[in-house]
Amino acid sequence: MAATIINGYEIAAKIRSRTAEETLKLKEAGIEPCLAVILVGDNPASVSYVTGKQKALAEVGMKDRSIHLKEETTEEELLELIRTLNEDSTVHGILVQLPLPRHINGEKVIMAISPEKDVDGFHPVNMGNLIIGRKAFLPCTPHGVLVLLEETGVETDGARAVIVGRSNIVGKPLAILLTRKEYNATVTICHTGTKKLKEITRQADILIAAAGSPGMITGDMIKPGAAVIDVGVNRIPDSTKKSGFRLTGDVKFEEALEVAGCITPVPKGVGPMTIAMLMVNTLESALNFKNKANRQK
Ligand code: GUN
Repeated sequence: MAATIINGYEIAAKIRSRTAEETLKLKEAGIEPCLAVILVGDNPASVSYVTGKQKALAEVGMKDRSIHLKEETTEEELLELIRTLNEDSTVHGILVQLPLPRHINGEKVIMAISPEKDVDGFHPVNMGNLIIGRKAFLPCTPHGVLVLLEETGVETDGARAVIVGRSNIVGKPLAILLTRKEYNATVTICHTGTKKLKEITRQADILIAAAGSPGMITGDMIKPGAAVIDVGVNRIPDSTKKSGFRLTGDVKFEEALEVAGCITPVPKGVGPMTIAMLMVNTLESALNFKNKANRQK
């Protein structure tokens, strides 16, 4: 029997709709949640991601403080902009779209963002708090994957989860989150140095592909009935498309469909969830600032 296709597009729409309701309440209380999205240069994939974020901000009714800087922007200019936004009390979230041009040190930039406004959850303070289970902004993609599993009714308690990919943005934080008591999964992280990868992935009740390697997970690497979450967003040249490319995941979808119990497609799987969770984090940040202001009254 073919796997159930998890509709991330629909689940994300539901989350945006709930976020819009909460945003409205906050606006009625005099606070307009505001996100500053900074894009440096014109990397086509980044432009497309930023456009998606702007559309979501408009839909949920939040203020969009997008700033598009030219490719030649210096590191110091970018850091100065971040300092200004850190100090601006009308801005609740700051996101610098990655990757940055090579002449800018991404780590330095992330460190410059106030942890209180780091709605990406990339700052070491947020990452550290996430690891020890303290309140933190959860990185949007791992958070989106957890919500997808919950909404689909995938049991994580006692499940064997295998994550392929060890990035700071997805693999590492997702592994930590899945081992929290509330999810209670047993997690294995695989990477380019993993030997006998198939033997490990075939044990996964939950298989998460986050390697950025198109089609690397084949049907024979999947345990029958497993939940397969494809985080990969790869641009593959395709002359039949007007854009000249198509998006494909890390999983060979047609093969996986025959084996898995449920699976996320690419596009319309994890991607829209990442943006929805960014809206959730921005709302949370605005609420945090409101509560802090009330405590100081
Ligand atoms: N580039 C790819 N994914 C992301 C993300 O989640 N946040 C940021 N800031 N840049 C990205």
